[in-house]
Amino acid sequence: MRDSKTNNNNLKHAPVLLTEVLEGLRIKADGVYVDGTFGRGGHARAILEKLGPTGQLIGLDKDPQAIEAGQALVKQDERFSIERGSFTMLETVIKNRGLEGKVDGILLDLGVSSPQLDDPSRGFSFINDGPLDMRMDNENGLSAAQWLACAKEREISQVLFDYGEERHGKRIARAICKAREEQEITTTLQLAAIISDANPSHEKHKHPATRSFQAIRIFINAELDDVSSVLKQSVNVLAEGGRLAVISFHSLEDRIAKRFIRKQVKGDDLPRHLPVTVDQLNPKFRSIGKAIRAGDEELSTNPRARSAVLRIAEKL
Ligand SMILES: C[S@@+](CC[C@H](N)C(=O)[O-])C[C@H]1O[C@@H](n2cnc3c(N)ncnc32)[C@H](O)[C@@H]1O
Repeated sequence: MRDSKTNNNNLKHAPVLLTEVLEGLRIKADGVYVDGTFGRGGHARAILEKLGPTGQLIGLDKDPQAIEAGQALVKQDERFSIERGSFTMLETVIKNRGLEGKVDGILLDLGVSSPQLDDPSRGFSFINDGPLDMRMDNENGLSAAQWLACAKEREISQVLFDYGEERHGKRIARAICKAREEQEITTTLQLAAIISDANPSHEKHKHPATRSFQAIRIFINAELDDVSSVLKQSVNVLAEGGRLAVISFHSLEDRIAKRFIRKQVKGDDLPRHLPVTVDQLNPKFRSIGKAIRAGDEELSTNPRARSAVLRIAEKL
């Protein structure tokens, strides 16, 4: 097992839907852009290539190793800066720089990066053994092992159901609680084995622990709450005509993005019978095109793109 402090910056992350993101953001050479999920900077570098000398890109990420990679880019490109923390600090970061209502585009490429998934020491993998961590910011908060050591059975089964849509959540939660009475659950393969033994009907082509690992990861990183929060903040941060691009990797995330955009396009919730014009409903966004998925060419080289869905909206 590798030490969790091991530098994994040589692990690669291929940016998904790159052409579509660049087109969707409609980058202006002198614009101000935010990459809320810097990762290893695949999208960020491509955005910088489109920016002129007065353009600006602000990166955010909660992962210390992503920040390390970002700081290397800061040294190479003065138009780029990066801050460590959740993208829920978007509005604060932008206000502190006096850029509220002046941002031309925000990219959110949600979820975990390949370096996080592929490095067993980060504890996301049910294929390779590692410490049961699963935190994107592995220097703060409860790890998956710490949470599973003290969570109530009911709480575990609720998380598996809510965030993994795992039908056998109750049974799996019971097995986890029984196993931890005998031995502390500290590694990913230990947890994967407990889940596999408890999961009666595996889905074809899916590891029996897929849904449970996704659920625990989403819970540990408060992923869905963070997405809802940053989307709301985007309204005040974006300039008129500014674009929001959101890439989701599972239906729970995509539902949040889809509903948010739909609500902003529709405007205020007023009783139906009131005689108001569309303008009076105060819509904040218009939707740009439909949900975009990766084409065959990208899918043949990047399997991670399989579940990616991109949605674009423009601030009115
Ligand atoms: C899919 S990767 C992004 C990859 C990036 N677009 C690239 O091309 O390299 C997602 C990244 O977002 C970060 N992340 C996820 N949720 C976050 C949040 N709430 N706040 C800040 N960073 C987050 C993860 O740590 C990870 O580095």
